[in-house]
Amino acid sequence: MNRRGFLRQMEAAAVAGTVGLPASGCIGFHYVNATIRSDRAVVRREAFGDQRYVLIDVPALPLPLYVYRNDDGSYTTVSTRCMHQGCQVEPVAGHLVCPCHGSEYTNDGTVLRGPTRLPLERYHTELDGEDVVVHLVTA
Ligand code: FES
Repeated sequence: MNRRGFLRQMEAAAVAGTVGLPASGCIGFHYVNATIRSDRAVVRREAFGDQRYVLIDVPALPLPLYVYRNDDGSYTTVSTRCMHQGCQVEPVAGHLVCPCHGSEYTNDGTVLRGPTRLPLERYHTELDGEDVVVHLVTA
């Protein structure tokens, strides 16, 4: 999504009053609330707890983002939208699996198994003190 499209969707979400509301949850997955600041989603590091990942809902995006804590303390973020036909991938045993046709991805979105041929969409992610900052605009 380009910057203009993203900001347009954020405006629509703000008008609808949904920005800042708690993330909807799904039992069994680790959803947390993110604070939306312009074109960034911010999650506190402590929100991960003992988990290696969190899922966050962003009003402008149709599916949650998967934010993963790497061994070296850095973080990666990918869309949970499968690049085969758009189903939502799920965290399973240390990687991501699509329940529709079985595609599998690493935690940084690299394809492990088809039918998909394309990696998951990635979002630049950085640490700012105790905040994990996900840049929501792709170039
Ligand atoms: Fe994910 Fe087909 S939609 S494998």
